[in-house]
Amino acid sequence: ALARRIDRPLVLVGMMGCGKSSIGRKLAQVLDLPFVDADEEIERAAQMTIPEIFAAYGEPYFRDGERRVIARLLENPGARPRVIATGGGAFVNDQTRGLILQRAITIWLDSDVETLVERVGRKDHRPLLRGGDPAEILRNLKSVRDPYYSEAPIKVVSGKAPQTRTLGKVLKEID
Ligand code: S3P
Repeated sequence: ALARRIDRPLVLVGMMGCGKSSIGRKLAQVLDLPFVDADEEIERAAQMTIPEIFAAYGEPYFRDGERRVIARLLENPGARPRVIATGGGAFVNDQTRGLILQRAITIWLDSDVETLVERVGRKDHRPLLRGGDPAEILRNLKSVRDPYYSEAPIKVVSGKAPQTRTLGKVLKEID
């Protein structure tokens, strides 16, 4: 019943390690909607991994590709709405954020830095976490990005509690 009332894509935003992909996947399952991970779509389109794209072309190029891929995912005319997990930096880009806010129901999953550090682990593949202390990098990025994330109309705290709890809170918010 709930899924039938959802007429726009559901987009999850928030820092790396906040659980966008895993909660997004579960949310899609519960609502019986398709799930897409924007990072995976970018890798598919580029035929390269994200670290390879960063290394070969740099972050601005990646952000532009990310914007185009998300724009395409949001268009999806006539199809059932989808649950879309975005990369942590997508919503910081003015154009990408504008598109998402205009066309989707946006949900910010907010985790504290300690939880983020725990979830991203030690040997992370993410280019932005290379060459520094992950906790410090995440703390700095979070303070820069939170003002953007807070433009999302829905915020759900994604703490250390089991993800089913977070999923429950998301479902309550969109009901
Ligand atoms: C990034 C987050 C990553 C990925 C890229 C850049 C970021 O996605 O898009 O490494 O700028 O925060 P996740 O949030 O899924 O880790």
